[in-house]
Amino acid sequence: MCGIIGRFGADGIDAVDDVLHGLKNLEYRGYDSAGIAVQGPNGIDIHKQSGTIDRLAAELDERPPEPRSHLAIGHTRWSTHGRPTDENAHPHTGCHGRVAVVHNGIIDNHETLRAELTAAGHEFDSETDTEVVAHLVEEYLPGAATPRDAFTRAVGRLEGSYAIALLVDGVDALFATRAGSPLVLGVGETGCFLASDVPAFLDHTDRVVYLEDGDVTVVTADGYAITTLDGEPVDRPVETVEWDPEDTQKGTHDHFMSKEIFEQPTSLSQALQGRVDPATQGVTLERFDPGAFADVSAVHLIGCGTSYHAALYGAILLRQHGVPAQAFLASEYSAVTDSETPLVIGVTQSGETADTLGALRTAQEAGLRTLALTNVVGSTAARECDDVLYIRAGPEIGVAATKTFASQVATLVLLTARITSDVGATPVDPDCLRAITSLPDVVKEVLATSNAFDLATRFHTADAHFFIGRGAAYPVALEGALKLKEISYEHAEGFPAGELKHGPLALVTESTPVIAVFTGHEDERLLANVREVQARGAPVVGLLSESSTTVAGVVDEALTFPDTHPLLSPVPATVQLQLLSYHIANLLNRPIDKPRNLAKSVTVE
Ligand code: F6R
Repeated sequence: MCGIIGRFGADGIDAVDDVLHGLKNLEYRGYDSAGIAVQGPNGIDIHKQSGTIDRLAAELDERPPEPRSHLAIGHTRWSTHGRPTDENAHPHTGCHGRVAVVHNGIIDNHETLRAELTAAGHEFDSETDTEVVAHLVEEYLPGAATPRDAFTRAVGRLEGSYAIALLVDGVDALFATRAGSPLVLGVGETGCFLASDVPAFLDHTDRVVYLEDGDVTVVTADGYAITTLDGEPVDRPVETVEWDPEDTQKGTHDHFMSKEIFEQPTSLSQALQGRVDPATQGVTLERFDPGAFADVSAVHLIGCGTSYHAALYGAILLRQHGVPAQAFLASEYSAVTDSETPLVIGVTQSGETADTLGALRTAQEAGLRTLALTNVVGSTAARECDDVLYIRAGPEIGVAATKTFASQVATLVLLTARITSDVGATPVDPDCLRAITSLPDVVKEVLATSNAFDLATRFHTADAHFFIGRGAAYPVALEGALKLKEISYEHAEGFPAGELKHGPLALVTESTPVIAVFTGHEDERLLANVREVQARGAPVVGLLSESSTTVAGVVDEALTFPDTHPLLSPVPATVQLQLLSYHIANLLNRPIDKPRNLAKSVTVE
């Protein structure tokens, strides 16, 4: 959902190289168009165009900014206002090229500002909301005591969500601010970075400052200063990020998605590390002393896309253990409750999804306690919620969520164990907590033995793919369908198996394989649905554990996973579906890490 970066390097640093490299690491946030603005002795040099960052890099190779500059900003775009054309690509400038700006978010009052600036004689080059920022600063520069004053005066006029980085011609400073969109300051030996996300500069520094809404940051040769809009100094801690720069590279894999699927044994181990006592099966969640959830009478879990599927799993799990719980799509959430005052858990990999943040804020306004279940330390959800629990999956770059789903599910099992113990509900089966410590090995075996590729070669040209499941297998079915549709562009739908006969069965033919997810729970009833489908001629692929011999005897094809506790089967089952989707998309030659029209971090509602 757009990525921005600014670089103020020490003497001798080529900011263009660093910005381009940073943009590559932010490409998962959007890839419609890209651009860069470089501070130079003869003005601000802009290079921007529709298409990928590789195209921009090729253009910069041919026409490198001369001389080298230590100061530049860059942008990779996911269009919201205006089509992905060269004109609409960022950075945007004012009429006289005195100001260049990159922006992530939406300026809600851009039409009013555009009308006002047009009346004052400004001429606009693009259809974007962002361009008003450059014109506003340019408008205020002549009357301002300092460029910083012009910047803050302009920012004071903006309504909406934004993370902004800005250059002023001839001024050796990088200006930035945020409200509702992420912005992180990287503090390195060779100068500073400002970016939408840490991977943009992790190769250079792991020391970061998570900026807050309303912070104005100005980086100069003397270092960085953070203030309020009114100029009051703000003290923010410098934190050390634990991610490894290697995690943001593809390594030997063709795609980030494949790398991240294969990282799951490690990322799951990280999610579990130190949280389950192998001897007693006691669960320790840092930040939550025993009894921390004692007053929880009900739980709402909210999320979008894959995170919603994890939320759905969490709600099913909690209900199975006697805790009233419900999952909501964040975009449809209203905190209306009966007599309960639920704990509201926002499940969000990025911690920046606007719909989820909006729902969490709605809950907070209703006086409800909120907890962020997230992957990104310092993300908006982590900072705004009352509590945070990290899933510790490491950076996920592929647009399709994979390893983070597995870590969300594993963490939700542990959270359920803690909540049930605190409120005196049915405890989570100790066998499940014993088995969870072997989950990384179970996944390792799936990855080593999967026959998903063979099935992909057989079914990648099918008319449609349907996924069915019951209970905790239903979120897996939804996730299998989402994964397939988003990266292969093939029609795929997930259904609760019992619902098939109430309508969707009309879609089932010999050319629509049905993938039935068996997790060892309600398998008999699911088999009945499988027979209904088979009676209509559809081939059925059973996703089942190795010992499910009865099921294996009924389904037409099998994707198996090693036996584990039924509550945990959704994890290895989903890994098989991730592999199936990946192979189908690869056979169809799709741009797996960058599916059309999508972006990883969706920071608009
Ligand atoms: C699907 C996918 C999206 C995200 C959704 C929520 O593969 O990645 O559906 O799950 O946009 O994102 P987060 O979890 O960052 O809130």
